[in-house]
Amino acid sequence: MRMLGLASLPAVNATLNAACTILLILGYALIRRRRILGHRICMLSAFVCSVAFLVFYIYFHTHAGIIRFSGQGWIRPVYFVLLVSHTVLAVATLPLVLMALSLALSEKFTRHRRIARWTLPVWLYVSVTGVVIYWLLYIAYTPVGAPALQSFLTFSLFWFPV
Ligand code: HEM
Repeated sequence: MRMLGLASLPAVNATLNAACTILLILGYALIRRRRILGHRICMLSAFVCSVAFLVFYIYFHTHAGIIRFSGQGWIRPVYFVLLVSHTVLAVATLPLVLMALSLALSEKFTRHRRIARWTLPVWLYVSVTGVVIYWLLYIAYTPVGAPALQSFLTFSLFWFPV
């Protein structure tokens, strides 16, 4: 039971990244139409998704260990470029997101807008690549996991045969 919970976390994390992407795009569309309350709700919800992702991600990897990518050939460098750029930008975007949020919540909207215009594309890149990395690592190719994850690997091969 505990194993099934751990095994489902990568899919939960990919869903959180996908939800974050949709909320960011919706939030941007809303502010372009001057719908401030809708924009506020979408951006705060995107932030909650990203925080939940971070908590689950750390929990998963402290319990499951490292999951290795098994793809060979041209896809291998593509995967690692995505993974490194995703990780570096995820770290870089955190202070930007916190700054954009705190400026908005303290109603310093001119400064909020200046920072948020940089924050939004970087945050979007991080959440979209999060979904792509999940798909490459767990679905498109058979993941090579730590022994603790064997039941997850069986589970994913059952549902997503490749
Ligand atoms: C970190 C989360 C957020 C991001 C990434 C973000 C993103 C953005 C972006 C990109 C713009 C500029 C839109 C344009 O080019 O016209 C903007 C404007 C704005 N945002 Fe946010 N936003 C966030 C959170 C919030 C929150 C929580 C509020 C609360 C009310 C808010 C209120 C506004 C307002 C009022 C503007 C218009 C500012 C102006 O035109 O002077 N934002 N936001």
